[in-house]
Amino acid sequence: MELKNYIREIENFPKEGIGYKDISPLLLDHEAMKEVIAKFVARLPDVRIDKVVGMESRGFFFASLLAQELKAGFVPVRKPGKLPAKTFKQEYDLEYGSDSLEIHQDAIMEGENVLIHDDVLATGGTALATCKLVEKCKGNIVQCNFLIELDFLNGRERISNYKVESLIHY
Ligand code: PRP
Ligand code: MG
Repeated sequence: MELKNYIREIENFPKEGIGYKDISPLLLDHEAMKEVIAKFVARLPDVRIDKVVGMESRGFFFASLLAQELKAGFVPVRKPGKLPAKTFKQEYDLEYGSDSLEIHQDAIMEGENVLIHDDVLATGGTALATCKLVEKCKGNIVQCNFLIELDFLNGRERISNYKVESLIHY
């Protein structure tokens, strides 16, 4: 199955000059979704994953499915002010704009093995901030995985301390 066939590019969204990789066609197809999960699992090292961390919003689509598949807990990393209990906060830069992300302080126990997942690795700002949040919780980051990696933005370099796997490259 060629996963790129399930991704459409929307020109000049959300801003002029940005080519938005829209995964909506993939989300509409349960067999393609299943294939994505199987491919992610096949690229994991043979260690127990305790928690899968997904970044709001688009990271949630696959991170919770992956957590279920791996019999792990799912941890949402959210935009500021959304999580109700005590949080750690981390500022980050985006491909377009800047913001901060939060995690519940009790979401990950010290030494737990963590898989980080997001839909897209662009500049790596979101992923790096998430790695820092997991480390504030004293989690052990096993791998960061992405459905799509935009190679030309070199996001991988910003998270070069971690193992990175992406299913689709542009
Ligand atoms: C997009 C995408 C990644 C991030 C990648 O999220 O889903 O999370 O940007 O960019 P970066 O590598 O340059 O940080 P966005 O912040 O647009 O929000 P969304 O997931 O809620 O749509
Ligand atoms: Mg996102």
